[in-house]
Amino acid sequence: MIHIHVLEGDWKMSKKNLDWANIGFSYMVADKRYVSNYKDGKWDDGTLTENSMITISEDAGVLHYAQECFEGLKAYETEDGRIVTFRPDLNAKRMVDSANRLEMPPFPEDRFIKAVEEVVAANKDWVPPYGSGATLYVRPVMFATGNVIGVKPADEYQFRIFVTPVGPYFKGGAKPIVVKISDFDRAAPHGTGNIKAGLNYAMSLHAIVTAHEEGFAENVYLDAESRTYIEETGGANIIFVTKDGGLVVPQSHTDSILPSITRRSIVYVAREILGMKVEERPVKLSEVPEFVEMGLCGTAAVISPVGKINDHGKEICFASGMDDMGPVMKKLYDTLTGIQMGTVPAPEGWI
Ligand code: COI
Repeated sequence: MIHIHVLEGDWKMSKKNLDWANIGFSYMVADKRYVSNYKDGKWDDGTLTENSMITISEDAGVLHYAQECFEGLKAYETEDGRIVTFRPDLNAKRMVDSANRLEMPPFPEDRFIKAVEEVVAANKDWVPPYGSGATLYVRPVMFATGNVIGVKPADEYQFRIFVTPVGPYFKGGAKPIVVKISDFDRAAPHGTGNIKAGLNYAMSLHAIVTAHEEGFAENVYLDAESRTYIEETGGANIIFVTKDGGLVVPQSHTDSILPSITRRSIVYVAREILGMKVEERPVKLSEVPEFVEMGLCGTAAVISPVGKINDHGKEICFASGMDDMGPVMKKLYDTLTGIQMGTVPAPEGWI
């Protein structure tokens, strides 16, 4: 399956007049969004609309029992001037998994991909120029609009996709960040940590606000059951590099890590393109000092290097240091973003 939407003509002339190199990771109201509603047991045909506002009942299920899930992917302008999206089929599939777990009617995967293409094409002037460092973030979201008062799934939903141009997720771009081991838990064993539900992020807000107040960029969550194993940061998955240049990717015994599409892509890039040794396995906090590089990965984070972990006052410093991204992360970053921007050949079906 190839997901390329090639835009012809002199559309570049109409690009929005933004300071592309200096936009942050925040919301701007773009021109069009896609909306489809679910009622009487089926999704309607869906449409593009200019209306960025949503009116729902005070008794909508999303407001009371958090029946909501979302996705995140990006559109890029390539070196040769095309606009492409990266592996939207995997976002479509993950959203189906999230919807099933939350007793919501899945939005059909083929329609999801088509809607992503439509929204990106309708907002082509918002796609940051190649080389600007910014990208177009695409946010699909689905939520219960139907009334509920007892605890049960609603019978009406909305699926929506909007876009916003974004810069780097962490201030400072590719500069290494300092993270802390959190005393809070993000996800219960066998709970909802492995789906992209808004409720997982609500859980993390107090933890991230207090971590920021203490001067840390992010929290590293341990497994809630034994508080022994590394899980993720809430906003991103985690990867490590060993002394001999291998990649180690934490796995969860209890199914509580979000299956990041970026992480899966990095595993493939490392193994199949860069010929690296890759281990996907549970990783104990106690073995982290043996690694030489650490990174956070996700659609928003791309690959963001971590220079230090603070574990209750004890620092774990990575050999890659606080100045730059380590050499292995850099190689992974360059290959991944090269695929996304069209300067490195993409594996079949990724672009
Ligand atoms: C993404 O990487 O797309 C996410 O959804 C993470 C979010 C915290 C911005």
